[in-house]
Amino acid sequence: MPESTRPPGPKGSLITGSLNEFHEAPLRFLEDNARLYGDVVGFRFFHMPAVQLNHPDDVRQVFMNAEGAFVKGMAQESFRPLVGKGLLLNEGEPHKRQRRMMAPAFHRQRVMGYAEVMLEEAARARDAWAESPDGLDLADALNRLTLRIAARTLFGADLSLAESDEVAAAVAAFAQWYHQTSHPLGPLLQLLPSATNRRFHDGKRRLSAVVSRMITARRLSGDTGDILSMLVFARDEEGDGAAMSDEHIHDEVTTLLVAGHETTAATLAWAFWLLAAHPEVTARLQAQLDEVLGDRPPQAADLPRLTLCDQVFAETLRLYPSAMALPRQAVKPVTFGAYTFAPGTLILAAAWCAHRDPRFWDEPLSFRPERFTAEASAGRPRFAYFPFGGGARVCIGEAFAKMEGSLLLATLLQRFTPERLSDTAPIPETLFTLRPKGGLPVRLQRRTLIRSE
Ligand code: HEM
Repeated sequence: MPESTRPPGPKGSLITGSLNEFHEAPLRFLEDNARLYGDVVGFRFFHMPAVQLNHPDDVRQVFMNAEGAFVKGMAQESFRPLVGKGLLLNEGEPHKRQRRMMAPAFHRQRVMGYAEVMLEEAARARDAWAESPDGLDLADALNRLTLRIAARTLFGADLSLAESDEVAAAVAAFAQWYHQTSHPLGPLLQLLPSATNRRFHDGKRRLSAVVSRMITARRLSGDTGDILSMLVFARDEEGDGAAMSDEHIHDEVTTLLVAGHETTAATLAWAFWLLAAHPEVTARLQAQLDEVLGDRPPQAADLPRLTLCDQVFAETLRLYPSAMALPRQAVKPVTFGAYTFAPGTLILAAAWCAHRDPRFWDEPLSFRPERFTAEASAGRPRFAYFPFGGGARVCIGEAFAKMEGSLLLATLLQRFTPERLSDTAPIPETLFTLRPKGGLPVRLQRRTLIRSE
C-alpha cells in the first residue's frame, strides 16, 4: 500500500509493527487507536497490514459482504488446534453445508425446548450455592453451570464433576496457550517444549477423551434427536451420501462445547459485577421478578414479561463483549472510507470501540439496561452493537445464549442479591473471551422472597 493512501494509525516498531502493544494491552490499543486516529486505523503486525474498523457502516461492510471478500483465514488460525474443522473456522461451501445441517438445533422454537434443562440446572446450582455462599468462586461456578447446560442440552450428556474439571482445565490451558501463541511467530512458539505447550496438549487430550465418550455413548444409544445425533448420524444428502468423519464430528462437538459455555459464563460474571455495582438496577430487576413470579420459579413462558433480565444481559454484552474485536482477512481488494486495502489485510471489527462510541451511546460508560428497550434501540445503527457478530457467520448460539442468560439471571436473582467485595472494577482479561481477571469480587447475599397471593 503506498504510504500516501495509508490510513492514519500507530507506527509501531520496525520489525514487529504494533504486535507487542496489541498483545500486551489489546483493549487499550484499540481504544487509543479509535481516539487518536478515527474510524479507520491502519497498522501492521510484522509485515502483515492490518486495519481496525470502529464505525458501524464499515463493520456492516465486513459482515454483510456478498462478494466473499472476507474470510476468517489467518486471523483466527490460532483457534485451529483446539476446534479443527468445526463450524467456527470452517470456510466456503463446507461451512455453508455444516451450518445448514446444524441450524435446526438452534432455531428459536427448538431452543425454547432447552429451557427446562437450563432451569433445572440453574435451580440445582442456586440451591447448592445457598448452602455455602461464602467462599464461592462465582466466576468459576458460573462456568461450570453453563458447561453442564451445554453438555446436557446439545449432547444429552450428564457430565461428572471430574469431567467438568477436565473441560475447565483444558479451556484454561488453551486460553493461556492461545494468548502466548496468537501472533505471526505463533506456529514457531507452538513447537517449543514449553510448560504452556505441554499444559495445552495435555488438556486437549483430556478434553478429547470427554468428547469421545459422548460420541460413543450416542452411537450406542441411537438417534435421540439432539444435535449430537444429527452429527453422528448425518448423511450428506446433496453430495455422496457419506457420513461425517469421526475427526470432523469430534471437531464440531468440541467447538460447540467450548463456544457454548465460556462466553455465556463470562457475560453472566460481568452482569453480576455490574448489578453489584448498581444496586438500584438490581432492585428494579428483583421487583419485576417478584411481580411476575411471586415465589414460584421462572419458566420460559415468563420471558416476554421478564424484560429487565434480557436488557441487563444485552447491556452487559455492550460493555463487556466476549469478542472484543472480530477478526477477518481480506481476500479481495476492499475499501473503507477513502482507503483501499490489498488482499491479505487483517481486519479487526472493534466491538469494544463501537459499543462505547458516544456518537451512538449516551454516556457510554454508564450501565443502563434501558438502552435496550425497543424504543431506545430504534434508530441506532445495526452495527453499533454486534456482540454476536453478524451476517452469514453470526453466532449460531445467539438465541440459546440470550435465553440462557435471562433464565439464569431470573433464577439466581430471585434468590440472591449480588454485593461488591471491592470498590474497584475487575480488570478485563483478554485471554480468550473477556473475563474478569482474578475472579469476581462479588458475594451473593440471600434474599427473602415475597409470598405470592
Ligand atoms: C453470550 C454468549 C455468546 C457470545 C457473546 C458469542 C459470540 C460469538 C461471536 C461474536 C461469534 C462470531 C465470530 C466471528 O464472526 O468471527 C460467534 C460464533 C459462534 N458461536 Fe457464539 N457466542 C455466544 C454463545 C454461543 C453459544 C451458547 C453457542 C452454542 C451453543 C455458540 C456457538 C457459536 C458457533 C458454533 C459459532 C461459529 C458460527 C459460524 O461461524 O458459523 N455461541 N459467537
